Amino acid sequence: MVAMNRLDELRRRHAAAEEGGGPERRARQHKEGKLAARERIELLLDEHSFEELDKLVTHRCHDFGMDDQVIPGDGFVTGYGRVDGRLVYVFAQDFTVFGGSLSEANAQKICKIMDMALKTGAPVIGLNDSGGARIQEGVVSLAGYADIFLRNTLASGVVPQISAIMGPCAGGAVYSPAITDFVFMVDKTSYMFVTGPDVIKTVTHEDVTKENLGGAMTHNATSGVGHFVAHDDAECLRMIRELLSYLPQNNREDPPRRATEDPADRMDQALDAIVPAESNQPYDIKDVIHRVVDDGRFFEVHEHWAKNIVVGLARMDGRPIGIVANQPAFLAGCLDINSSVKGARFVRFCDAFNIPILTFEDVPGFLPGTEQEFGGIIRQGAKLLYAYCEATVPKITVITRKAYGGAYCVMGSKQVRTDINLAWPTAEVAVMGAEGAVNIVYRRELAAAGDQAAARREKIEEFRDRFANPFVAAERGYVDDVIEPRETRPRVIRAFKMLENKVDTMPRKKHGNIPL
Ligand code: HXC
Repeated sequence: MVAMNRLDELRRRHAAAEEGGGPERRARQHKEGKLAARERIELLLDEHSFEELDKLVTHRCHDFGMDDQVIPGDGFVTGYGRVDGRLVYVFAQDFTVFGGSLSEANAQKICKIMDMALKTGAPVIGLNDSGGARIQEGVVSLAGYADIFLRNTLASGVVPQISAIMGPCAGGAVYSPAITDFVFMVDKTSYMFVTGPDVIKTVTHEDVTKENLGGAMTHNATSGVGHFVAHDDAECLRMIRELLSYLPQNNREDPPRRATEDPADRMDQALDAIVPAESNQPYDIKDVIHRVVDDGRFFEVHEHWAKNIVVGLARMDGRPIGIVANQPAFLAGCLDINSSVKGARFVRFCDAFNIPILTFEDVPGFLPGTEQEFGGIIRQGAKLLYAYCEATVPKITVITRKAYGGAYCVMGSKQVRTDINLAWPTAEVAVMGAEGAVNIVYRRELAAAGDQAAARREKIEEFRDRFANPFVAAERGYVDDVIEPRETRPRVIRAFKMLENKVDTMPRKKHGNIPL
């Protein structure tokens, strides 16, 4: 029989952990539109599935009066639970306890669940709301961060790691999320920066608000640090659940299949008319994606950043796939620095987690200009090329219109180990557009012509007839088939089914040297 006073003691400690920083601080959290750490975990996980660990852990700091402020759990809630019945590990920082700052003790709590996640092969989800290193603990807290960064890196490509930024995330606190696979942010209540507005003012004399410096839209639209933006905490947690539904538990598993009512042989006549007759007219590649995938459901990643490329997850006949698509409706679908980095990161994620890749290609080439060249478009574009070459998951490319120049090679060409390459009759597979080509190839001839404009028009027409089509590539087998746009869904589904048991390998190496 447990002595009653021990039971009372246990209950007292549990209650203190759940109380966190107290009602006033909790009220402030709610007033700011943020949920408390435990409320967030409840919304994230399946009902009653959360098992908390280390609820009784306390900090070990004796300086600055910390002896008098000991709260069981030390402000971090850690443990495991289920999302759609599948195991996940989770930690949530409680901003009401020392501003969610990282102590030695709660760094160890995070490391404990990360070590378990690696051993048991399950995703880790971090709900961040923290003022960074616990200032009172000094270097011990910094060491705690480094312990976490190491585990983030070791777990990278082994189990999915997802970060939600649901409050401030300052100093070293931003680097753990940055190493993870996906960063969610909540609009108007979350921000991330290495140094805050005050430090910036002192060092560079720039005036910038917290929101402009590191708010959700800054990181989702400008820096690319954030992959998703949610309106509030609840939406953010729902989005994480949806993201997980596409992912395997670890790199040894295939992503989970889900039954669908959407017929695998569904044709879509509207696709036949989606590409405009004029090859310089834009159209929205997302219309194509929505018409091809199961139930029109496309879970877009990095929706607001580098919009000239579209990446995200969907299902085809119930199987999760990753989609990479040039977006002719934005910058004519050109590849530039940001879109190359965005595409490369996504392709590598899919490859790491056995998610087949479907590419829709309509790309006039790399974006010209000094800004791009000085920014290292050569090195940055090479990342996307490298990622496609390296990926061994099933790869299918559908060329809807332009496949020009280096961008032809990059965007899942046959030569970079793409398994099935299909083209629509509207495809133009060539070194460059007809006008540019004619200006170079026939420069002398055109200069000598009597009616230069007429001669140019004639040559352009001739060049278009000869090269701006899918048939030259198809004759060579670089394109496996030219298909009617309406058949895209059934053809792609059948090809992915054929590729289900694909095995491809890389030469033995420690790791490659992607041009970072
Ligand atoms: C200890 C902290 C804390 C911290 C906040 N608090 N940050 N306690 N260590 N890092 C405490 C506050 O004292 C306060 O306690 C409570 O949390 C809420 O903080 P407020 O300032 O009242 O909240 P708010 O106005 O919302 O501002 C939030 C904030 C600000 C922007 C995060 O607190 C802040 O700037 N904190 C410091 C950020 C920082 O510089 N961290 C160190 C980064 S260095 P009470 O008792 O009043 O409720 C770093 C290095 C890691 O992280 C390197 C690894 C590579």
